[in-house]
Amino acid sequence: MEDYEVCSCNSINKSTIVKAIKEKGLTTLEEVKYETTAGSVCGGCCEEIEEILKETKRD
Ligand code: FES
Repeated sequence: MEDYEVCSCNSINKSTIVKAIKEKGLTTLEEVKYETTAGSVCGGCCEEIEEILKETKRD
């Protein structure tokens, strides 16, 4: 998997988000925000997080 920074406000990488989704069974943007803090500042990365959620749930 290609890793890159998804949330620049909090310096959260894609791998961190995917790991949290898998390990904690997260299903919503709100849960990802709570667990990783990604998406909780400017909200500019929220769409990207939704994409990652969809992608990860498919695996
Ligand atoms: S880039 Fe993620 S909250 Fe701003």
